[in-house]
Amino acid sequence: TRRLTQADLAKRYSAGEKIAMFTCYDASFARLLDGAGVECLLIGDSLGNVIQGHDTTLPVTVADIAYHTAAVKRGADQAFIIADMPFGSYQESPEQAFRSAVVLMAAGAQMVKLEGGAEMAATVDFLVHRGIPVCAHVGLTPQSVHVLGGYKVQGKGDAAARKLLDDAQALQDAGATMIVLEAIPATLASEVTAALNIITIGIGAGKDCSGQVMVLHDAFDIPPGKKAKFVKNFMDGASSIHDAACRAVAAVKDGSYPGPEHTYSA
Ligand code: KIV
Ligand code: NA
Repeated sequence: TRRLTQADLAKRYSAGEKIAMFTCYDASFARLLDGAGVECLLIGDSLGNVIQGHDTTLPVTVADIAYHTAAVKRGADQAFIIADMPFGSYQESPEQAFRSAVVLMAAGAQMVKLEGGAEMAATVDFLVHRGIPVCAHVGLTPQSVHVLGGYKVQGKGDAAARKLLDDAQALQDAGATMIVLEAIPATLASEVTAALNIITIGIGAGKDCSGQVMVLHDAFDIPPGKKAKFVKNFMDGASSIHDAACRAVAAVKDGSYPGPEHTYSA
């Protein structure tokens, strides 16, 4: 078995197959998720929250993401590996973004992810034309929590929806080949997915995205307790963590997750 490539993912997208993505930070979970059929592993800067115990993603460094990317890469033989660009490592200039992305690619990433809309298009173009595939990320962008004024649903109302559609289009035009849609109304995510010809990955964005991403610790209810509205606890009724991961993949593939109860309205 060989590792999935961007071309393999594009083929599945074209065939109408939903893409299953999980965040992952270490080799053991990487092996478990790989064995459950998870296609993409994201070394998210959510590691600032779930691994490091911070209350935002802002303190995460390129070195942190690189360390966890290398561990995940060693654990998974098949999954496509995406590394998050942390806060402050790419916003300054395309050149700064390139230098940061090189560290993550050298650590084993096949693609990097960065937050932001049309204002990041020039950076996306710069990276893609220098050998670095890019996943964009719009909607709720946690690195901007202090500007957004909290972790709130985005893209509500006509003006905000229009802007998000324009941002997504600009990022695709700049060469992004995947885009995460976080915490936006399901109807808007559906519109974006229909308008674009790249893979949309939803989290709190309804069932019509081309795929779904789940934060590992959220999907397995670690630590136990109340989570965001879009989170489903796949340990509920599962016989093991492996079983829970298999159920999560199946639920993404058959479209049963996310359900209406996990979805925001416009
Ligand atoms: O860091 C992260 O976990 C993410 C996902 C929520 C998309 O960016
Ligand atoms: Na992230």
